[in-house]
Amino acid sequence: MPSIVALMPKNMKNCTYVEPFVGGGAVLFYLQPKNAIINDFNSELINVYEVVKNNLNELIIDLKQHKNESDYFYNIRQLDRTSEFEKLGKIQRASRIIYLNKTCFNGLYRVNNAGEFNSPFGRYKNPNIVNEPVLKAVSYYLNSNNIELLNGDYEDVLKNVSDNSFVYLDPPYHPISESSNFTGYVQGGWNMFDQARLREACDDLTNRGIKFLLSNSASGFIKDQYRNYNITTVKATRTINSDADKRGEIDELLIRNYE
Ligand SMILES: C[S@@+](CC[C@H](N)C(=O)[O-])C[C@H]1O[C@@H](n2cnc3c(N)ncnc32)[C@H](O)[C@@H]1O
Repeated sequence: MPSIVALMPKNMKNCTYVEPFVGGGAVLFYLQPKNAIINDFNSELINVYEVVKNNLNELIIDLKQHKNESDYFYNIRQLDRTSEFEKLGKIQRASRIIYLNKTCFNGLYRVNNAGEFNSPFGRYKNPNIVNEPVLKAVSYYLNSNNIELLNGDYEDVLKNVSDNSFVYLDPPYHPISESSNFTGYVQGGWNMFDQARLREACDDLTNRGIKFLLSNSASGFIKDQYRNYNITTVKATRTINSDADKRGEIDELLIRNYE
């Protein structure tokens, strides 16, 4: 976080902060900009933000019903494999995803090729399923600022941003090695063509005079894609990796189109 923030443009006060791959929103919630557009392709995730913003009390009541038990977990997990899923309301859907995130193995959001959640039960003693202070703080932030929530492909978001925007991009990372190719946040994951499409969208931002900062893995392919940009290598800690030895400090790139 300190490396990312240090490389952001100075004087961002009056601009709109745009985060097209918002995920858990680590950078958004650190900065807490007054004007922001946030987006993610994952509709379950954006539904969580919408419900936290608009239906906080009902969400907290629903979350309190969940149990940290294996059979119960798999019952909730398998809902997206049945026709029951379409009948769930937005509050129940948001509650399900928060519950699965808090009780699954390593908090890993993972879906199979059919888009069905498939992380196993985490067997934690006391997971914080209902984190009321954080939910309330996020709800307050989303309601007391001008934050637009979008659910689509990043390219559509970037096409429509105004000149007075700053864009932070944290896409699915390009794998450094064959064994680390987990990019399954959304059905299909990302390949080299997806990374190249993003680089073209970054070229377009540059042509329009819009500043961006992008995070990605320190792979040769990414260094080559962005060879015309300012690239800084930083150390990052990774807590989610199937291989325990690879959790820890690794190199990552921060790429920007300004000094
Ligand atoms: C590396 S994560 C972002 C993590 C985030 N910075 C955080 O603090 O949690 C990448 C995100 O990009 C989203 N994503 C994948 N493909 C996308 C696309 N084509 N358009 C928009 N979002 C996409 C995934 O759903 C995932 O949430």
